[in-house]
Parts: sequence; C-alpha cells; structure tokens
Amino acid sequence: MSSPELVPGLAGIPAAESSVSFIDGQKGVLEYRGYPIEELSEHSTYEEVAWLVLYGELPTADELAAFTADLGRLRVPPPALVEMVKAFPRTGHPMQALQASIAGLGMVCPKVDLNDAASKDAAARRVIAVTPVLVALFERVRAGQEYVEPRADVTTAANFLWCLDGVEPAEIAVKTLDCAMILHAEHTMNASTFACRVVASTENDPYTSCSSAVGALFGPLHGGANERVLKQLSTIDGVDTVQGWFDEKIAKKAKVMGFGHRVYKTKDPRAKNLQTLAIQLFEELGSTPKYDVALKLEEVVTAKLGDRGIYPNVDFFSGLVYEKLGLQIDVFTPLFAMARVSGYCAHWLEQLEDNKLFRPAQIYVGQRERKYVPISER
Ligand code: ACO
Repeated sequence: MSSPELVPGLAGIPAAESSVSFIDGQKGVLEYRGYPIEELSEHSTYEEVAWLVLYGELPTADELAAFTADLGRLRVPPPALVEMVKAFPRTGHPMQALQASIAGLGMVCPKVDLNDAASKDAAARRVIAVTPVLVALFERVRAGQEYVEPRADVTTAANFLWCLDGVEPAEIAVKTLDCAMILHAEHTMNASTFACRVVASTENDPYTSCSSAVGALFGPLHGGANERVLKQLSTIDGVDTVQGWFDEKIAKKAKVMGFGHRVYKTKDPRAKNLQTLAIQLFEELGSTPKYDVALKLEEVVTAKLGDRGIYPNVDFFSGLVYEKLGLQIDVFTPLFAMARVSGYCAHWLEQLEDNKLFRPAQIYVGQRERKYVPISER
C-alpha cells in the first residue's frame, strides 16, 4: 500500500464532524450553531452564546436565567485552588498561569463521570464559570494585591472586571468586554480546539482538555498574536513611517502580526466587529494614535498581500480594544481563552459523544535497522 501524502499542518484535512460552528473563509462568514456572529454580537450576551454553543439552541428566558445563576454559583474557585494560584511565580506569563490553574481546577473538583451527562455538564459549566476568575486572580497576585471574591449577581464580563479591580466596572467596559467575549467564544477546528479534542479523545475531563487547549492558544501564531499586534503597533513611530516599516518586514520575510489566517482569505468577520467595538470605545473614551497606525497598516498590508488572501484577523483590533479598557498587554490572550472555554467545552462534549481516539499516522523519514555501536567505538 502506498503511503498517504503529508499535508503540512493538516491544512484542509477534516479532523471531525462538528455542528458547533461554521466558517466560509472566502466570504468571511462565521456562524455559531447556524447563527451569524454579527447578529449574536449585536443582540446576544456571552451567557446566551455560551449556552448556544454548548447545547445547540438559543435558550428560553427560564433556561438562560437558570444557566446565568448556575455560572454565578459555580464561579467561586475552591480555596485550595486560590492558594495554588497565589503560590505561582509572579514572573510567569498569565497564559502559563491559566493553563496550570485550569489543570489545578481538575485536582480540586469532583471526578467527572464521562458516562453521566449531568456530571459532564456540571464540569463544563464549572470550567466556563471559573476560568475568568482565575485570570483575574493571577492578575491580582502578580500585582501584589488581595484576591477579590467573585460575585454571583452580575454577568461573566462584569464579574471579571470586578475581580480584576475590586470596584464596580463602567457600563461601557462591561458591554465591550461582553461583546468581545461573544466574538471569541468559538471558532471551528483551530489549533487549540483540535488540541482540546485530541486530549478529550483519550477520555479525559474538561479540565485537562481545556488546559491543553490553553497551552496551544498561547503560541504567537495562534491566540498569542494579539499581544504582539499591540507591541508591533507601538514600534511604528507614526502613520508616515508605516510603509517603510512594512517594506523592511517584507524584505526580511517576517510576518506582520494580526494578518493572515489558515481559513479566512478575506477580512476576518470578527476583526470587522472588533473594529466597530474599538470605534465605539474611542468615541466614548477618546482615540489612540495607534488606531491611525493600524488603519494605515491595514491599507499597506492588504495592498501588497490582499491578492494572496492576507487580511486582518481577529487579533488585529482586539488589542486596541483591551488597551483602551486599561488591561495589561499580556492578559489579552487569557481574555481570549476565558471566552473560548465555552467553545472548547462544546467540542469536548461533542468529541465524547462519538469518540474515537486520535492517533494519526506519520511518514517516517529516518534511518532503519541500524546496528548498535558500543560507546567505546563511537
Ligand atoms: N504577514 C506576512 N506574510 C504572511 C502573513 C503575515 N501575517 N501570513 C502569511 N504570510 C505569507 C507567508 O510568509 C507565506 O509566504 P510564502 O508562501 O512566500 O512563504 C504565505 O503567506 C503562507 O503563510 P503560512 O504561514 O504558511 O500560511 P498559513 O495558512 O499557515 O497562515 C497564519 C496562517 C499562521 C495565521 C499566518 O497568516 C500567520 O503567521 N499570521 C501572523 C500571526 C497571526 O496573526 N496569528 C493569529 C491568527 S488568528 C488566530 O489564531 C486566533
């Protein structure tokens, strides 16, 4: 039998059948369970979207109220986990802390019975509820501040900002973060979701599966690009220098962060929505010169690379939004992760429904049948 051909990065190779989300990369379409992202970001809330992504339908008012209350109740991290996060080195990256703390959540929570729908559901809800609190907790720890207990009476976005600062957040900040979380909640078979499903396929709980996914999301080619976009914008002196900066990058064959996508060959619909969010925020709180640089960069990059399908992706405008909200640059990727756990959990549940252990093949290119040489003869 001839060996199958290698497809680098498994580009275009289906890894599962899924009904969680849909992308048309040519047209720039993204739907969660069939609902366009534009409609959800305009009319929905993160809690409603998390329910939709998990269970496939929009919730009734009663279902949403019960789910929101459940997330509020479940968001209190067990005391042992709080102590664990307090002991993390403050110099660690917040994504490393998040990966470790979601794994740690599994150490202090009841064992998940994968044959029991209620047990799986409770575990998924716990991950979605606790993750934002864990992000905020590590922010407090590394700033040398006291842990702020989560509140059950507010939304996920409001509670996150509350846990971060210990003060009532501004309405615009809550609204913006809620919308950004909707836009980041799910995104088909990307690297981190695939990592989640691979780990789930070994019959693992959502704590281990989601912490593995967070590890994959950390990388600069994936979720880690958002913090690099802002650093990149900071290194460009002004609108007039964008073209020269870009020409230098291209001459060095370097990548421009926040552009390009494996699936989208047009502007990422989430980038469009985040740009709108940024504009709304700037109208309220004042603009930033980095936004003008970003607009020029988009013009310059797409003029040169647009015919190769390279356009702004989700990470291009999110950093500008988060910076305006006063968030630390290295917490941008954890913000992505704390929204995406709902997508990960939906994929975890879906993977377990009809599980087959992931065990791909390889194309062996090494040597064979070599004779062992004793160390004295080498
Ligand atoms: N800037 C400049 N050139 C680019 C960029 C970019 N951002 N993206 C792709 N290219 C070029 C590559 O240099 C390559 O050129 P070549 O054929 O001459 O060697 C070609 O386009 C194909 O690039 P690949 O990296 O092989 O394409 P892939 O489909 O794997 O790209 C990826 C997807 C990894 C996201 C890429 O566009 C990239 O590295 N972008 C920058 C990082 C980034 O913004 N990541 C966030 C993605 S969104 C997310 O994960 C949440």
